[in-house]
Amino acid sequence: MNTAVHFNPEQLSHTAAKFGTPVYVYHADIIRQRATALKNALAPLNPHIHFSVKANSNRAILQLIHSLGFGFDVVSGGELARLQAAGIPVTDVSFAGVGKTVSEIQRALAANIGYFTVESAGELQRIAELATELQQPARAVLRLNPNVDAHTHKFITTGHAENKFGMDFVTAADLWRQFDSHPAVTIEGIHLHIGSQVSQIEPYVEAARKGLDFIAARRAEGLTVRRFDMGGGFGISYQGEAALSLPDLAAALRPLFDEQSLELVFEPGRWLVAPAGVLLMTVQYVKKSERKTFIVTDAGMHTMIRPALYSGQHRIEPLKPPAAGTAPILCDVVGPVCESTDFLAQDRLLPPVQPGDVLALLDAGAYGMVMASNYNSHPRPAEVLFDGDGVRLVRRRESIDDLWRLEVL
Ligand code: LLP
Repeated sequence: MNTAVHFNPEQLSHTAAKFGTPVYVYHADIIRQRATALKNALAPLNPHIHFSVKANSNRAILQLIHSLGFGFDVVSGGELARLQAAGIPVTDVSFAGVGKTVSEIQRALAANIGYFTVESAGELQRIAELATELQQPARAVLRLNPNVDAHTHKFITTGHAENKFGMDFVTAADLWRQFDSHPAVTIEGIHLHIGSQVSQIEPYVEAARKGLDFIAARRAEGLTVRRFDMGGGFGISYQGEAALSLPDLAAALRPLFDEQSLELVFEPGRWLVAPAGVLLMTVQYVKKSERKTFIVTDAGMHTMIRPALYSGQHRIEPLKPPAAGTAPILCDVVGPVCESTDFLAQDRLLPPVQPGDVLALLDAGAYGMVMASNYNSHPRPAEVLFDGDGVRLVRRRESIDDLWRLEVL
């Protein structure tokens, strides 16, 4: 049995001192550990696993995940280019997203990408034209909107009829028939993704059932179906709440997929990398108002937007253990940005801290740095990777000059 790897507070303190804050720190050993757990849990389904690049697109992380035997799911030409720039072959890569441009599709075709996840009739038409022009055959799966309630935050639910993603079943079936004998495009199957941070098994089972009914109907019409991409969305526990159990998910899906002769694909992002990252920040001020205590740090919504955007609840812990006998205080952890939504935690009990103390925001390895911005002209943080005893910078901190590097006077 492996002993679980955790971040070591002393090593984190050294890192904050050496590289400054705010800084994202990732732990390769935690990613390895989670990769093994993910593969083992899903093994009964024998799936292909495509890491969702949007969760963390640092090339060092992508190289690590590639070395662990995963494929990838991208949603832009930029994400695809990152894989290529990291030296990763893109044959085991899927390309999702509702707005693929001509140049993005051309890049993907030229690279002979694994397959496109097609979101609309217009997109399939465009892919077919470009594939014909470039004489580069394209493979596709049609993204269905299963109209399933994923019971997650409304901003990260995707499989509901009112969301922009995928196609209704009638449209998808028509499109498949229409393109069935197209010389440049092969439709290989279906895709659906119900949402993110999903904690229940039932929505997956419901979506799988709907997808399999659709597949059975296409097979009955004589169409060949070989792939079912079920997207990602596996929820983690940010605050000790119940998380999705992957072994239970596999057990619930297995009877549905046995003897289906389908290649099953999953596209997890968060589950693999979120707990493998922390965001370190330094307390600047402890500000007391009539109603509240604010811990003002050098990180904020520009560094980590999840609390502001989705009421994300990340644990925050000081690296230095509190002095014995000190009572926690009720506080908001906020940043320097001039917005009232610039908070990392609200009404949280934390040990008393002083300016200069370093705090760690946990589970920051997914949808952290990738969503960071330069709002209020703050340079974006550095990224550091722990690997065994080694510590290396995998993205340097932006400098003040970087802020206007692309501007033209
Ligand atoms: N596949 C597709 C087609 C997706 O749209 C997504 C996420 C994934 C896979 C990966 O989902 P995951 O396993 O990471 O849940 N920024 C939000 C999450 C947005 C997810 C968007 N799509 C957050 O921080 O909660």
